[in-house]
Amino acid sequence: MEMDLTLDLWGVENPEEELEKVRQQALQCTACRLAETRTNVVFGEGNPRAPLVFVGEGPGEHEDATGRPFVGRAGALLDQALRENGLSRKHVYICNVIKCRASVVENGRVRNRPPYADEITACHQWLDKQLTIIQPLVIVCLGAPAANTLIHKNFKMTQERGIWFPCHYARYAMATLHPAYILRQEGESYQQNYRLLVQDIAAARQKVIEAKKEPKTTLF
Ligand code: URA
Repeated sequence: MEMDLTLDLWGVENPEEELEKVRQQALQCTACRLAETRTNVVFGEGNPRAPLVFVGEGPGEHEDATGRPFVGRAGALLDQALRENGLSRKHVYICNVIKCRASVVENGRVRNRPPYADEITACHQWLDKQLTIIQPLVIVCLGAPAANTLIHKNFKMTQERGIWFPCHYARYAMATLHPAYILRQEGESYQQNYRLLVQDIAAARQKVIEAKKEPKTTLF
């Protein structure tokens, strides 16, 4: 069944235009050290009117090279899990907690590293503006860094994955396994973890359908 993408009347009037304005500002950002090493700012992409938003950790090599979120192997796995739920990128919006690649040079090779706390703090202005414009009903955090930022600190993925939480930016938020984590598993563990990702996306899709039927809680 196709997801209902009707414009919610209480949303921002022109989210496309508003998001583009913020994106143009983000492209100039020098708020943290990652500005010095990035190739591209990876702002985010997808449907600015999507009721369902996915938030990952931060761009990797391919995202940095292209300026687009989740275009490497992790992105291909996310696309596959979306497809299994009858969804594609046109139905959702995808972005990250940080918009520039965090990397370290080891033995002459550039490797991804987790973002530092001060980088997440410096970048929060962009995620904040993005989610305030989109006003999703449901947010799915991909991995613990996004869950720590949007759900609560010290998020425990093993205990709290797939559970619904209230969130400042959406009526409901949950966290699921990061596709890159799933790709590091082998055999049965890979299959089990991938099924959890598919199952959590199915739950998020269902939550959108239910949330659309709920009465609106604010007047404006
Ligand atoms: N991992 C992320 O968290 N985000 C991306 O955009 C790509 C890989």
